[in-house]
Formats: sequence, C-alpha cells, structure tokens
Amino acid sequence: MSFADIDVKALDKLQAEAELERLAKEIAAHDDRYYRKDDPAISDGEYDALRRRNEEIEARFPDLKRPDSPSDKVGSAPLEKFSKITHSVPMLSLGNAFSDEDVFDFESRVRKFLSLDAADPLNFTAEPKIDGLSISIRYEAGKLVQAATRGDGTEGEDVTRNVMTISEIPSQVKADDFPEIFELRGEIYMSHKDFQLLNEKQIQAGDKVFANPRNAAAGSLRQLDSSITAKRALKIFLYAWGEVSALPGETQSQVIAAFRRWGFPVNDLMKLCSGAEEMVAHHKYLEQQRAGLGYDIDGVVYKVDRLDYQQRLGFRSRTPRWAIAHKFPAERAITVLEDIEIQVGRTGALTPVARLKPVTVGGVVVSNATLHNRDYIAGIGRDGEPIRGGEDLRIGDTVVVQRAGDVIPQIVDLVSHGEGSSPYQFPDHCPVCKSHATRDVNEKTGKVDAVTRCSGGLFCPAQRVEHLKHFVSRNAFDIEGMGAKVVEEFFEAGLIKTVPDIFKLKLHRDEIAARKGWKEKSTDNLINAIDAARKVDLDRFIYSLGIRHVGETKARLLARNYGDVDSFIGAMKQAGQSGDEEAYGELANIDGIGSVVADALVEFFSQAHNIEVLDELLPELEIAPMQVVDDASPVSGKTVVFTGKLEQMSRSEAKAMAERLGAKVSGSVSKKTDLLVAGPGAGSKLKKAEAAGVEIISEDDWFELVGR
Ligand code: IVH
Repeated sequence: MSFADIDVKALDKLQAEAELERLAKEIAAHDDRYYRKDDPAISDGEYDALRRRNEEIEARFPDLKRPDSPSDKVGSAPLEKFSKITHSVPMLSLGNAFSDEDVFDFESRVRKFLSLDAADPLNFTAEPKIDGLSISIRYEAGKLVQAATRGDGTEGEDVTRNVMTISEIPSQVKADDFPEIFELRGEIYMSHKDFQLLNEKQIQAGDKVFANPRNAAAGSLRQLDSSITAKRALKIFLYAWGEVSALPGETQSQVIAAFRRWGFPVNDLMKLCSGAEEMVAHHKYLEQQRAGLGYDIDGVVYKVDRLDYQQRLGFRSRTPRWAIAHKFPAERAITVLEDIEIQVGRTGALTPVARLKPVTVGGVVVSNATLHNRDYIAGIGRDGEPIRGGEDLRIGDTVVVQRAGDVIPQIVDLVSHGEGSSPYQFPDHCPVCKSHATRDVNEKTGKVDAVTRCSGGLFCPAQRVEHLKHFVSRNAFDIEGMGAKVVEEFFEAGLIKTVPDIFKLKLHRDEIAARKGWKEKSTDNLINAIDAARKVDLDRFIYSLGIRHVGETKARLLARNYGDVDSFIGAMKQAGQSGDEEAYGELANIDGIGSVVADALVEFFSQAHNIEVLDELLPELEIAPMQVVDDASPVSGKTVVFTGKLEQMSRSEAKAMAERLGAKVSGSVSKKTDLLVAGPGAGSKLKKAEAAGVEIISEDDWFELVGR
C-alpha cells in the first residue's frame, strides 16, 4: 500500500512511517543509478521532489526519522570510481613568466597581436596563483548541477557530490542577474591551519600524512565517499568561467565583481594594473605577503582585462594568449648527488638522471633530478655561456636542487666536488641494447647536438617499450588500466612487441588473468578499455605514432589539413617519393609544419617496418576524421594564404582567427589554395594566385566574409 499521493500535511503517523521507508529505499535506488551506473531513471526535478518530501515528513514527525535517512547522506553510498565528464569548454593551463622581463615581453606580445600602440590603454588584472586544484562548477537555473576536476583539460572527473559538501560553495544562487547557464571555475585549496589539523588527526588515527596542503586538498576532494570530503575543511577561490549563457560584464574585473555579488569567494588581492610595470610591482607585493596569507600561492596570474580583447587573442593549443602565470622563484635545498643513471627514451635519446640523497624542497621529498644531457653534466651551456662557471658534475658532489611547481627537480648549482672524485664518463654505448650511441650533427649548422642517441632504433628494447608507453599514454590512446608499468610487464612477457599486439591482447585473456597481480575482473576491464580505445580521433592517432617532432600541436595541424586517415597516410607516402614535390610542398607549407617536421614525417613513412606496423594496426581501429572547428563558417575547410601588410590585425591574429573558423592557413600559394587575402605591398604570392585563378580578396573583404 502506498501513500505517495497523500499530502504531507494529511499523513497520519503510521502512513508517515511507511512513506519514510519507501522514500529511503527509492532515493537510494536513484542515487545508485545516477552516481554509480550513470543511468538516471528520473529527472533532477523529480529526484529533488522526493528528497523534499522526505525532509518535510521528517520535519513533521522528527521522532520517525530513520537511521538510514537520505537527509543525513551527502549523496549516495561510496562510488567505485568517478565517472568522466567532458568539459563543454576545455580547461586550459597557463604559460609561464619567470622574470620581470618576461612580463614586459608578455605585454608587448599582446599589444603587437592586437595592433595597439604604446599610447593605447591596456589593463590587466593581477591576482594570486592559488596552489590547489582546479575545478569547474556548473549551474543551471541557479542550481549547482555538476562539478568536475580539470583532468586532462578536455575530460575531468565528476566530483559533484564532493563539491556540494564544501560550505563556501552555494548550491543555489538566488541573484536576479545570475544567467541561466553558468560554469564557474576556480581553485580548491586547504589553509595552512586546516592542513596542520588534518595531519594531526591523521597521525592520531594512524592514517597517511599529507606532504603539503595541495596534496591534502586533492586527496580530500577525490574521495569516493563524499562523507569523508564533508569532514575536510576545503575552501575555494573562483577566478574564471567555462560555458555561460551570458556574461555579467565586459571586463575580467567586472565578471569577478559579479562573482562576489552572487556570493562566491573571490580573492581580495586582485589588482587592476595599467601595464607591466604595475604588474611586476604587484608581484613583488604579493611575494612579500606570501608567508602571512595562511594558504599556498605559487605566483601571480595576469589577465587582459577587456573580454573583447581576450576573445580576439584566443588560445594557442593549450594556453590562452591573454593570460600568463608569473611564478615566484623556486625553492631550493642542498644535497648529495649519489649516482647518475642513464635512461633511454622513445627516440633513443640517452638522458642522464641524478639520484640524490633524499631532501625536502618546499615540502616535497626529492630524490631524483634531471641532468638533461652530457653537456649539462660537463658544465657546457647551450649558447657558449658555461653553466655553473664551467664546473662539471660528479658522483659524490654536493649540489643545490631546485623544484618549481610541477617541473621536474633540477640541479642548479654545485657546492663542492666530493673527495677524490673524477669527471663523469658519459657512455658511448646504449646501456640497454649495447648499440653505439652517437651525437646528432645538425645538417644546417654543422654543430654537434647536445643529445646522445642510441643507434639501435627499433632493435633497442628500451626504445620499443618507450614507444609503446607513448602510444597508450594520456594524450595518445589513453587506455585506462594500461600505464607504463603494465606495458613493461607485458613487453617483458612477450605479450606485446609492437603496437598492433595491444589490440590482440584479447587472444591472451586467460594467460593474462592467470598472471600474478591479475584477476578475471581486472583482465576483462583492461580488454574492455582496449576495445573502447579503438575509436580514436585522427589528431590523437597521428600524435600516438610517436614521430619525431610531431607533438600534439603538429598532429592537430596535420589532422586538420588532411581531414581523414587515408588522405593523411596517402599524402605522407607520396611526399616521400622522389619527384613528388607537390605533395612534399603541401606538407612543408602548412603553417606551423616546415621542413624539419616534414622530413621527420617523410622519414617515418619511408621505413618499411613502420608501414608494416601501420598495415597491421589500421584494421584494428576506427579513426574519426577531424571535425572542422566551425561548420557554419564560410571559410571552413578552405585553405587560406595571407600576404602583404595587414592593417587591422597582426599576422598572428589573422592566422588564429582563420583557424578558429575552420580554415587551414598555408604559407604559400598552390593549386590547393582557395583564398588569398592580400594587403598592400603583396608581391609574388599575389602574382602566383592571379595566374592560378585563386580568389583574391582584401583585408576588408575578409572581415566582411567572416562577419566581424
Ligand atoms: S586562470 C584559461 N587564475 O593555474 C586560464 N588560474 O597553471 C584559466 N590557477 O589550471 C586559469 N590560480 O588551476 C587562473 N588566479 C588564477 C589561478 C589559476 C591558480 C591554476 C589553475 C590553472 C593553472 C595553470
């Protein structure tokens, strides 16, 4: 018998008790579907109505409240894992400035990009860079509906329930001018005081102690059981936004003022500056304040204040052109260099790594540091300027280590050589496959490169295994459960030799499940994750191949230019055929590619063993063609060349704008050119375009065409 239709006010005690029991069960079942199975059965509104009814009945009959009452639970039972959320607007990171000079350069770059004179006003906000973890919190109709971690910037983890436990974050915003959709972004952190209290409690309970407030904040937020997060003192500052249906201002500082009005915590130390001079002065001021703030900051973030300028400046591949982080000087400590080990990378580079006597640097224990290459150890600088006064590094030396943010620790200075030490002999053989290790010679300059490389190629197991690790890594195929350790294990066991073997692991299911550390379930999970990874975007696929000089940005450019996998591979093979200058020319002329990258691509696709691997790999995959950025734009998919002087925008702005609108920008005119935008003084490219019958327009026509 159900009393679901009876108004709360009309329920008698017995009916109320039955209703509370029904609601507890029903809400738990919906929580389970929503949070664990990603498969909600009712709308958010219906779910809220159930919770409200439960609370109203409890308010009328407090003594009937059940021990398992849904109103005591912050969310549902602990999750098994977080589900993933794709950010509607990517969460990017920031470029870095390390010196005052870098900040002046930043202002100049921005002015140049926007074609502003020194006399034109240009304001920046300057605010503390909070050392916490970034979060995106989405509101719809004033209600907090979702919160996600940054993750890889494109996809984060759903931590909605945990974020809801943070008291500084309103679950409902009442302001009249709060837009229908608004994603606020900011930094979750823990104060020094709360960090200390937490660690004391952890010690008492015999639990793990956190190394620093940032780790404590991250560990507290990423709890599968949100009732644990609820007990941790997490705080937040909001400083940016993602998808929004409207903006409450025309400048960064106006939007932040609205955040404050709406009831969100914002940092009081933000200052509006009229240029680099005021920015570096504020940086100095914040550095002095740093120790007394009560929370960790690791620098100052500067942002162009006008939002229309931010829009025009846009983004490089992962960082905005309109903002930069000015770091505080890194923290340092003195320790002993106990050993030097040589690691062999994917491209065969022999990288020396320092093994250090463990030492705490800025709250973190450091026991390894990079030594870059043999010249770095020898004290030879890159540009003729010796480092450490030309002193070399030897095993047994006392050295200064530095750690800056997430950067790998570095040895920045030598205190003294160890007693009886002798100079380090850099190996001339690969420590893994014993092949000869040689230094590259730059063909153009004739100079020897600082990098020593194993000549073993794919004969070298270290290079093969590094190549496999790259293939499954986060920005490549991103196969969940297949990290570096698993790759090494399977490689050693002979289960995977080359990349296509990964997709054939299914055939070895029972063998894997029988291995130490593996179970039926973890094996099936891995096989499912591998199957899920078969669908891949073209740019990721290209990046995964691990071709020298082809990082994510270049891979994206190539994908955008060639569109689908067949055209890409076809063009690469053709570009390598002697006599096909057209295909090579098209490749090298893609703006941002050039001859070094083009040569590396040609080299890769001319090697028979690479083609064999591709022939075996492709049938395993489903490679999605590159989506054009803006389908509705009139220049989408077109190849555009800019030439001559542009008067209303800089060359970089023109290029960025065209790419945003889905066009490909090329540096030279060819048969493939669709459009030439010619300014005054255009010369040979204009003539070539005329001869080839390419459409030629002026800068004004360009703006008319793209509607700005
Ligand atoms: S602005 C598009 N402002 O620093 C850029 N970031 O190194 C949006 N961070 O991922 C970021 N304090 O997690 C911005 N006041 C601040 C910040 C801040 C800390 C973090 C943020 C970002 C990282 C980049």
